[in-house]
Amino acid sequence: MTEQEIADAAISADGNLLAVWERWWTALDGTPGEIVWDADAADLAADLQRFAASFDKRLPVVDFGCGNGRQTRFLGRHFTTVLGVDISPAAIDSARAAENPPHVSYRVLDARDPDAAAELHREFGDVNVYVRGVLQALPSAARPRAVRSIARLLGATGTLFAKELPPEAGSCLATVVQRHGLSPGIARVMRLIPPDRYRWRISRVCSPLIAST
Ligand SMILES: C[S@@+](CC[C@H](N)C(=O)[O-])C[C@H]1O[C@@H](n2cnc3c(N)ncnc32)[C@H](O)[C@@H]1O
Repeated sequence: MTEQEIADAAISADGNLLAVWERWWTALDGTPGEIVWDADAADLAADLQRFAASFDKRLPVVDFGCGNGRQTRFLGRHFTTVLGVDISPAAIDSARAAENPPHVSYRVLDARDPDAAAELHREFGDVNVYVRGVLQALPSAARPRAVRSIARLLGATGTLFAKELPPEAGSCLATVVQRHGLSPGIARVMRLIPPDRYRWRISRVCSPLIAST
């Protein structure tokens, strides 16, 4: 079994992605830096430069896997209709609880459900799609369905911007942890993952450290 196959088995054996992400989004307590993938405003602005000219401004934008809506609200400053979607009702509650302008809204949607995406497409028509750090968080077997969902949302005229970690990021992170130790933010992410089953290289480095904290 490859490491990816073991990781996939871990996620499905763990029940489901929804349970994992609900655990994550309900366990947050507002500690600064606890969401380790939060982007700096400068990063968001730099990304916007990469895709703004390619997005047809007449189309809505879907933030696919929006989490607590940090990026969705940023997109709302630049596009006229923005919809954040996420598998986790807790994430969507948190996104809705923030200060959102009227043209920014949220829905629960499982990326692995192309029929639900098609339903959204019937409502909104073609949309531009913004994805950041979501496909990497899916079991590899689920990614084709997520890609089909994105295709349904895009229709014939939408444009996709996707920003995802490459597969080698795990080894890179493992090296950083070995050199500098485990930050509280990474420890929190790793606690989501059953250590007996999920054995990417980063897990092998982190699990003993988590056990000893
Ligand atoms: C690493 S976070 C990235 C969040 C956000 N895009 C960002 O850049 O801050 C991954 C997000 O994907 C969501 N997610 C995971 N699996 C999903 C699925 N099957 N469908 C929709 N969202 C999913 C999680 O709830 C989480 O909000």
